[in-house]
Amino acid sequence: MRIGVFDSGAGGLSVVKSLIKSKYFDEIIYYGDTARVPYGTKDKNTIIRYSLEALEFFNNFDIDLLITACNTVSAYALEDMNQQSNYPVIGVIKSGVMAVERHNIKKDDSILIIATRATVASNKYQDALRDLGYNNITAIQTGLFVPMVEEGIFSGEILDATMQYYFRDISTPSALILGCTHFPLISNSLSNYFKNFPTLIHSGEAIVNYLEINYSLEEKQDETKLKIFASDNVSGLRRIAKKWLSF
Ligand code: DGL
Repeated sequence: MRIGVFDSGAGGLSVVKSLIKSKYFDEIIYYGDTARVPYGTKDKNTIIRYSLEALEFFNNFDIDLLITACNTVSAYALEDMNQQSNYPVIGVIKSGVMAVERHNIKKDDSILIIATRATVASNKYQDALRDLGYNNITAIQTGLFVPMVEEGIFSGEILDATMQYYFRDISTPSALILGCTHFPLISNSLSNYFKNFPTLIHSGEAIVNYLEINYSLEEKQDETKLKIFASDNVSGLRRIAKKWLSF
């Protein structure tokens, strides 16, 4: 099985890491729109237009399905992308919400969603959780974490101060949805910040589980091949990939 993974930039590599670990895929074609990241600050029409343009890139490859690792793309562009492709395009929001249920979070347990401004504004996570009966949901935009992770800041005083700023009025939730590709890289710092250790919902693990349920996948002996492409500075992205995929 050859799959595509699309993200606005480098962050989707956190999802790639889980996909490689699962050993289900022969080849992953990764495309990061590094020339136009971030998507999370853009409006709906721009996000859809950029996402449809990314589909043209994947036309060069014979892929069986495309995963939009980017939560922002998953929130706005899935329907249009599915209409314009002849393979399934799967986002990370539905699988993330299903993972909340799988972790036995109770309907009145507190759930905190952290994501980009656009993802929070779309209400996609909030609506899907409410449809399942969850009623104690808070969503906050934590966009500053994105450039920090891009800078390789995964812990330390700048991150501590930013968490303090965003979470000053928030008590430890039962579940914390990492609703942005970059946030798994600061998951240790987030867990440490919330003293009682919330259950973390990670897009990569959630999508692997979703694919296991919905597709007949077989584990491979051989390692998954990864090919990385970008709309700008592909060598920089490949360098980040080497670093991020190694821990
Ligand atoms: N990939 C984006 C997401 O998961 C974060 C970076 C961006 O804003 O483009 O929402």
